[in-house]
Amino acid sequence: MFLKDLVNYKSIETMKISEVLNCSFSAWYPQFKEYTIKSQIIPLPQEFVDYLLADQVVLPESSVALSAAHQDEDEDDNRYADNVVDWATEDIMTPVAEPPSFPEFESLLKIAIRRMGGKVFPKLNWSAPRDASWISFDRTLKCTCPSDVYLLLKSSDFISHDLTEPFKFCTDDENLKNETTVKYELVLRKWRELNPAYEFRCFVKGNTVIGISQRHTDMYYKFIPENRKEIEGDIQAFFYHIIKDNFPDKSYCFDVYRRCQGKLVLLDINPFGEVTDGLLYTWEELLTDKPSHTEEEGEVDEITDPLLRCVESETGVQSNPYGAYAVPKDFVDIAHGEDPTKLMQLLQLKVSQQTNHPDSSSDEEPESALGS
Ligand SMILES: Nc1ncnc2c1ncn2[C@@H]1O[C@H](COP(=O)(O)OP(=O)(O)OP(=O)(O)O)[C@@H](O)[C@H]1O
Ligand SMILES: [Mg+2]
Repeated sequence: MFLKDLVNYKSIETMKISEVLNCSFSAWYPQFKEYTIKSQIIPLPQEFVDYLLADQVVLPESSVALSAAHQDEDEDDNRYADNVVDWATEDIMTPVAEPPSFPEFESLLKIAIRRMGGKVFPKLNWSAPRDASWISFDRTLKCTCPSDVYLLLKSSDFISHDLTEPFKFCTDDENLKNETTVKYELVLRKWRELNPAYEFRCFVKGNTVIGISQRHTDMYYKFIPENRKEIEGDIQAFFYHIIKDNFPDKSYCFDVYRRCQGKLVLLDINPFGEVTDGLLYTWEELLTDKPSHTEEEGEVDEITDPLLRCVESETGVQSNPYGAYAVPKDFVDIAHGEDPTKLMQLLQLKVSQQTNHPDSSSDEEPESALGS
C-alpha cells in the first residue's frame, strides 16, 4: 500500500475492509499462482509481530549467525568479507536489548529462501518495505538470509502500517475495523531482475479497466508511447482472460509486468482507493469521473485521453516518490530528538550488513529472466 500524501489528500472514501482483505497476498496468490512470480507464504508468529513493532532495533542472534553461515552457501565466495569490521567501539554504541530468538520461524525462513533460489523479495500481506531499501547493502530489497529480511521489515514504516492500521482508510464501522483480525504473513517472492519500464498499474472499476499507468513515473521510456496500442491491447486481453472473472471484487488495481508482446506477469493486486498510488491518474478522477476513454460508443467521436498514461517526454518525468525515503524517518526523529537510540542501532546494523556484503557489484540475471 502507498501512504504518500494521504494526510493531505482530499478524502473520497469508498474502500471496504473486505476489499483490503481480498488484496492480501495469500487471498489472491492461490488463484493466480500460474501467472505471477513464485512465492512462499510463512505465517508470522505473534512474537515476531511484537518484535517488529517494538522500538528497539536488534536482530535475532541466530539470524546474524545464519547470515555468516550463508556465505559458505553462496555461489560467489568472494562476495563477502571474512571478518566484520568493528567500527563501532563500545564507547559510542548505545547498549541494545538481548537479541530475540525465533528458531522455528527462522528455519522456515531459511528453507523458503533456499526454495526460492537463494534470493528473495520480502513483503507482508500488502506491503513491501520499499521505504527501507536505503538500509540494504545494494539499496534493493534483495534478501539472501533471514537477517536481510529482518532488517528491512524492522526499518520500514510501510510494514508498520500493514501491522497497525491496515483498515485505517476503510469506510466500515469503527467497531468492525477493531474487531477484524488479520492473519499476518511473510511473503518471500523469488527475486527477479525486473526492468521498471515494463511495469504497469491497471485500475479496474466496475469490472472494466478504466486506466493504465506506467508504474515508475520518474523515468521517460520512449518505447511506451510508441507502443501504446499494443501495450493496452495486451493488458486488456490479460484482464479479460485471466483476472476479471477470477477476482472477487469489481474494483481493484492490478500491477503487471509486460516482458514482451503477449507475455504478461501479474505482480500484485491492490485495493481500489487512495491507499494505492494512482501514479499518473488522480484518485479524484478514478473515483468520481468517468474517464473520457470509457464513454459509451457513439457518445463521443474523438477519444482525447488514452487509456494508458505514460511520461511522454524527458521533461515530463515526475520526481521519485521515494526520494523522501532516502533519508530514513529515523533521521527526522533524531532531528527532533525523539529516538536517537533507534537511529544508532539502525546505522550500526547497516554498517554491519555492508561489511558482510562488501562487493555490491551486480550479480544480476539478464532483464529477460522473468518468464521461462
Ligand atoms: N520478486 C521480485 N523481485 C524483484 N523485484 C520485485 C519483485 N516483486 C516486486 N518487485 C519490485 O518491487 C516493486 C514493489 O513491489 P510490490 O508492488 O509488490 O510492493 P507494494 O508494497 O505492494 O507496492 P504498492 O504499495 O505500490 O502496491 C515492484 O514495482 C517491482 O519493481
Ligand atoms: Mg501492492
